[in-house]
Amino acid sequence: MSKIQAAITGVEAYVPEYRLTNQELEKMVDTTDEWIVSRTGIKERRILKGEGLGVTDIALPAVQGLLKKTGTRAEEIELLIFCTVTADLIFPASANILCDKAGLTKAWGFDLQAACSGFIYGLTTASKFIESGTYKKVIVVGADKMSSIIDYTDRSTCIIFGDGGGAVLLEPSTEGVGIQDAVMFSDGSGRQYLHQKAGGSVKPPSHATVDAREHFVFQDGQPVFKFAVKNMADAAALIMERNQLSAEDIKWLVPHQANKRIIDATASRMGIGSEKVMLNIQRYGNTTNGTIPLCLYEWEKQLKKGDNIVLAAFGGGFTWGAIWVKWAYNS
Ligand code: UT7
Repeated sequence: MSKIQAAITGVEAYVPEYRLTNQELEKMVDTTDEWIVSRTGIKERRILKGEGLGVTDIALPAVQGLLKKTGTRAEEIELLIFCTVTADLIFPASANILCDKAGLTKAWGFDLQAACSGFIYGLTTASKFIESGTYKKVIVVGADKMSSIIDYTDRSTCIIFGDGGGAVLLEPSTEGVGIQDAVMFSDGSGRQYLHQKAGGSVKPPSHATVDAREHFVFQDGQPVFKFAVKNMADAAALIMERNQLSAEDIKWLVPHQANKRIIDATASRMGIGSEKVMLNIQRYGNTTNGTIPLCLYEWEKQLKKGDNIVLAAFGGGFTWGAIWVKWAYNS
């Protein structure tokens, strides 16, 4: 019998309506459209507006759409992994909240936090539950409401991030399609360059932490950039090398959308042209856990059964990795 592999059998995504453009940011901080586009490739990003709305309000329409388009009943889902850095609450997990809101009454779930690499960590984790024969229907969500932790007076971070996310359904396949291989890495010594200083157990929230603006994303961009350029490209090259995949074999690169220059470096290291690279950073910025499912969703109609695609990400932690997927369906 052929081995069981975890196939992505559907993808859906959601972005909030409000568009925060570079022109609007020019009025908020000392920056220019020209600087943002040339350094990052970003033109606008989406922001979730409205009192009392959190990341599960971004994930919910994605999960509902996913169930609908794949013809899956809510109670068929056995496990949901929610990859996010902007959970609705510190606890309980957003996975619990989302399962309740979406009526996934038979599913258990948990949140997975690996900064911008969360979605590929989550996909790798979920694939093991399918490959082992434990479950037949697993949802992996990648979503963030980055606007909830961004300091809109800090020009080095507020120009980058946006809100959005998506969800994929994983099911078993014995046809040779699905997740073929994954390489995951982390190096906690990189935490000094990208983190949120307060709100955790080391520095619980206080008037002082709020006054010092320590509940926002802190990023020292240059070292993160240098590490990301090298390691995301290395991970993508490694997954090709150890599976004897040539540039011609690869149909698509699905990169985390943090900076167009990091994406270009990864594509160049893989030896593939820009026509094979999914790129929507110009419209959404960096949605952290949302970037890869958002790309898969927007390119879904162009994907064909058997296409070799490489997902690659790099994020705070540091965390990084790459996954080789054989696409499982024609839509
Ligand atoms: O998502 C996962 C992990 N994150 C990443 O992968 C992000 C990695 N880092 C980056 O993408 C880039 O480092 C940034 C886009 C964040 C910054 O670009 P950079 O080319 O590394 O710029 P820089 O931080 O070295 O700053 C260069 C200059 C500085 O001015 P001086 O010191 O040269 O006078 C900054 O103050 O640009 C200035 N600057 C800005 N100027 C206009 C920084 N932000 C802005 C801005 N507008 N928004």
